[in-house]
This record gives sequence, C-alpha cells and structure tokens, in this order.
Amino acid sequence: MKVKVCVGTMCHLMGASEILTVIQEIADNDPNIELVAVTCPGYCHVGKKPPIIEINGQVYENVTVESVYHILKEVDK
Ligand code: FES
Repeated sequence: MKVKVCVGTMCHLMGASEILTVIQEIADNDPNIELVAVTCPGYCHVGKKPPIIEINGQVYENVTVESVYHILKEVDK
C-alpha cells in the first residue's frame, strides 16, 4: 500500500512528525508499505483536519498515533 504523510506546516503543527515516525516503524517491518512524506497536497485548505495522510488515494484526516494503527490494519484487510 502507498502511504503519503503530509508534513506541510499545518499537519506538522498538529503532530505529523510523530505520525511519520510511527508509520516508518511499521513500514520497516512491512515490505508492503511504501511510505512517502509529502508537502501540503491542499487538503487542509478545503476543510480537512490535520494531520492528514493518504493511503492508496483515500484521505484520512485528524490522524493520531493511536488511530494510525487501526487505519493501517483496516486498509490491509
Ligand atoms: S499541511 Fe497537510 S494538508 Fe495542508
């Protein structure tokens, strides 16, 4: 799965670096995860709540270090 983590200013202020670290740790043990850090794709400008990640084109907002585990597990099913 392709996971994009926004590290733009708004997402950064809301904890994107912690999200990135968590997903990186998971990706280190899962060759199916392709992780990319991206600059702001504009979702925060259209009302989505940071921090924002995108998995296989699906947008997830207001992601936390806790919820990201569940999101990845759900997508992996
Ligand atoms: S800063 Fe993350 S979507 Fe804009």
